[in-house]
Amino acid sequence: MSIPAVQIENITKIFPVPLRRRRIMAVRNLSLTVQPGEVYGLLGPNGCGKSTTLKMLLGLVKPNHGRALICGKDSREYRSRRDVGFLPENPYFYKFLTATETLVFYGRICGMRGSALKKRAEELIDLVGLSDARDRRVAGFSKGMLQRIGLAQALIQDPSLVILDEPTAGVDPAGSHQIRDLILDLKKRGKTVLLTSHLLEQVQEICDRVGIMARGEMIREGSLDELVRVEGQTQFIVENATPELREQMEQLINKSGAKLVAARQPQRSLESVFLELTAPRS
Ligand SMILES: Nc1ncnc2c1ncn2[C@@H]1O[C@H](COP(=O)(O)OP(=O)(O)OP(=O)(O)O)[C@@H](O)[C@H]1O
Ligand SMILES: [Mg+2]
Repeated sequence: MSIPAVQIENITKIFPVPLRRRRIMAVRNLSLTVQPGEVYGLLGPNGCGKSTTLKMLLGLVKPNHGRALICGKDSREYRSRRDVGFLPENPYFYKFLTATETLVFYGRICGMRGSALKKRAEELIDLVGLSDARDRRVAGFSKGMLQRIGLAQALIQDPSLVILDEPTAGVDPAGSHQIRDLILDLKKRGKTVLLTSHLLEQVQEICDRVGIMARGEMIREGSLDELVRVEGQTQFIVENATPELREQMEQLINKSGAKLVAARQPQRSLESVFLELTAPRS
């Protein structure tokens, strides 16, 4: 068995609340494992401890108990983060740099130099849909544009583990769709992705496994198929069924002793209708 890309073992974080003599148990005894090449979605309501978990994994917040490993290396060692890209919840950038300069800056921090870095920065600007804003200062960027540059920053050195804290927050539906495709492309290239999101429909489309947190604890974990499967039911989707065929099928089902729960037209997602209506005209 290969070494897990991410291994979080019984991690707990308690934040003190100054002056009030209270403490917040942000994460309680949480364990999770992400295998190489997997896309893992960490879900849960606001304040349940998702971002704190990611920060502990990255060595940005010190756990009270437990430990986290990245590719087998303890996350307190900076070496563990060499091949990791991170999009934080509220990315912050130097306001006076342009989009391209920002990416070149982060690329340099990762040890990249010269024309390879310039080329990679330009490529990523196009990939995240900021081609028209490449020479604009980040100070004037909208929330969704900042999110896109944050995503590009996380990918600059083509890391094998990408950690994204709400990658689509504030991004319009077309942008979220692009980000979804980008994550699927990372998966195709064998990268490991750990993300948090509130867009459950999108999570369902891209994640192999999901963990659901509540009040600092992991309350359910599993493959998407396991989590969303309705046990004991079978769905047929039939094209061009005549009314006669439908009637025959219903009779057959009733005769067999099984129960027909619903027979209806499948529905499209609101997202796909929105994207079709708002697509640029060619
Ligand atoms: N630096 C901090 N000091 C004190 N409390 C904190 C700190 N960071 C997080 N918390 C608290 O820890 C709990 C978990 O916060 P966290 O940001 O991890 O939640 P989250 O699941 O990422 O929520 P969201 O979906 O809103 O992003 C919250 O109660 C939050 O107020
Ligand atoms: Mg968060």
